[in-house]
Amino acid sequence: MKRIGLLTSGGDAPGMNAAIRAVVRTALYFGMEVYGVERGYAGLIDDELVPMNMRSVSDIVHRGGTMLRTARCLELMEKEGQERAVATLRKRGIEGLVVIGGDGSFRGAKCLTENYGIPTIGIPGTIDNDLEYTDYTLGFDTAVNTCIEIINKLRDTMNSHERISVVEVMGRHCGDIALYTGITSGAEIIIVPEVPYNMDDVVMRINRSRASGKHSNIIVVAEGVMSADAFAKQLQNVTEYSVRSTCIGHIQRGGSPTMADRMLAAQFGNKAVRLLKDGIGNRVVGIRQNKIIDMDIIEAVSMKKTFNYELYETLQMISM
Ligand code: F6P
Repeated sequence: MKRIGLLTSGGDAPGMNAAIRAVVRTALYFGMEVYGVERGYAGLIDDELVPMNMRSVSDIVHRGGTMLRTARCLELMEKEGQERAVATLRKRGIEGLVVIGGDGSFRGAKCLTENYGIPTIGIPGTIDNDLEYTDYTLGFDTAVNTCIEIINKLRDTMNSHERISVVEVMGRHCGDIALYTGITSGAEIIIVPEVPYNMDDVVMRINRSRASGKHSNIIVVAEGVMSADAFAKQLQNVTEYSVRSTCIGHIQRGGSPTMADRMLAAQFGNKAVRLLKDGIGNRVVGIRQNKIIDMDIIEAVSMKKTFNYELYETLQMISM
C-alpha cells in the first residue's frame, strides 16, 4: 500500500493529535504517503484533504483536540454520501483509511469496508471508554484525570460548607467515566446507567458517613442517568444537608493528554499503519491486558459493552 488516508471522527478526545502524529510518522517511515482528511467523514465526502509530511505533525503530541478537526456525519449513513466518500478516495489514489473515533465512526468504516472493499483500520478515540473489545479508549484517562482535578477543588469548598456535591460527568450510555472518577477521587457514591439507584440508600450512605465524622460528600452522576441538577434537586428534598450541583461538561474533553493516552496513541497509530502496510484492512486496534491487539471491525462493533461490577463493589467498600 503506497498511499493512505487518515481522519478523526465523532467527539474529539485528548490523544487524537498524538495518534495522528504516530500514524503519519509511521507511514512516512515505511515510505507511504498520507493524506489527512479534515472534518471527519464530512471532509471525505467533500474532498477536503491535505497531504501530510513530517513537519505537519510537529508540536501536536501534547495538544488536546484534533488538528484535522472532526464532525458527526449523518450523510455517510446514506448511499449517496458513501459513494461520494469512496469517489474521493479513488480520485486521490488512496488505498487504505485510518479512522480515529468511537463506535459511530467505526460503523462508518465498517460500511466502507463491507460495501466498497476499502481497507480500513479503526483506532478507538473517545473519552467514553464504551467499546467492549478494548480495555481502554484513547482520551478516557485524560478525561478522568480532568474530572479528578475538578473534584479535588470542589472538595475544598464542600468541606468548608459541609455540603454534598453532585458532579455530572460524560460517557453517553456508559458509566465508566463515573466509575473510574468515583473510585480515584474518593467519591462516596456513583450513579451509573448500569446499576439502578435507590434514593433511600443514597441518604443512608450519606448519613452514615456524617455520623462517622465526615463533613462533606461527593456524588458522581453519569450523564446517561440524569443531570447533576436534576439529581441534586431530588436529593435536596430528602436530606437536611446543603446540596450543590456541578456539570463538568466539555472541559473533560479538552486538555493535554496524559502519559497513558500519549502511549496508547503512539502504539495504536503505529499498529494501524503496520497492518495497512501488510495489506491487512477491516480491523480495529485496541489494548487488552496490556497488550496491543487488533480485531475484525465487524466483530468489534457488534460486541456489547459490559460493566465492571467488581470495581463498583470496590467503591462501595472503600468509600465511606
Ligand atoms: O462521545 C463523547 C461525548 O463527549 C459523550 O460523552 C457526550 O455524551 C457527547 O460526546 C457530547 O456530544 P457533543 O459534543 O456533540 O455535545
